[in-house]
Amino acid sequence: MKRLQLGILGSGKGSNFVALHKAIAEGRLAADIRVVVSDIASAPILLRAKEFGLPAAALPAGKFRTKLEPEIEEELVAILRRNQCEWVILAGYMRVVKAPLLEAFAGKIINIHPSLLPKFKGLEAWRQALEAGESETGCTVHIVTPGIDEGPVLAQAKVPVLEGDTPETLHQRIHAAEHRLFPATLQRIAESPAGIEPLKAQPLML
Ligand code: GAR
Repeated sequence: MKRLQLGILGSGKGSNFVALHKAIAEGRLAADIRVVVSDIASAPILLRAKEFGLPAAALPAGKFRTKLEPEIEEELVAILRRNQCEWVILAGYMRVVKAPLLEAFAGKIINIHPSLLPKFKGLEAWRQALEAGESETGCTVHIVTPGIDEGPVLAQAKVPVLEGDTPETLHQRIHAAEHRLFPATLQRIAESPAGIEPLKAQPLML
């Protein structure tokens, strides 16, 4: 089995990155993390990457609020290429990905989103689900396309909304599901002889 060569992008705590790293260390995911990049220089994800002895880089987004400046996104592509990444994994990366990255890694950018897409796209999806009075939400792993949170779904896991949940308790439960779903989905890609195409037709449901 060919090991997936991963470039990880994240903006925050990095618990999904840690879950992927753990799955690799435990032999549950045939992959290598080649580099971790964050748009936030002080993000804990970079500290965790350094603790694990992995290459880690801060690449601040520039003047825009939601996307990278095109030149900076080109630089991101260069970092990923220099580190021989084949797949780009968005693990809590809070920037909208545009043409430079989308074209350089077409069909090979994978995101995890904290809702059962197509429901609750965008920010704080767990809070959106709670405020909508849902009895169930979850998380989704999907291929990134130009439409925000719209690409083909590879896997989903359901999570109950419990009485008395706050946004924080619900997000915690979703996080736990994400930490199972993300490594399992990437391992399915590693194990698929025909690549990612057949996985789109039959999303994994956990
Ligand atoms: C995760 O819940 C992830 O699904 C979400 O950010 C969190 C990152 O947590 N991503 C998005 O909302 C992207 N639209 P982490 O830094 O602990 O992995």
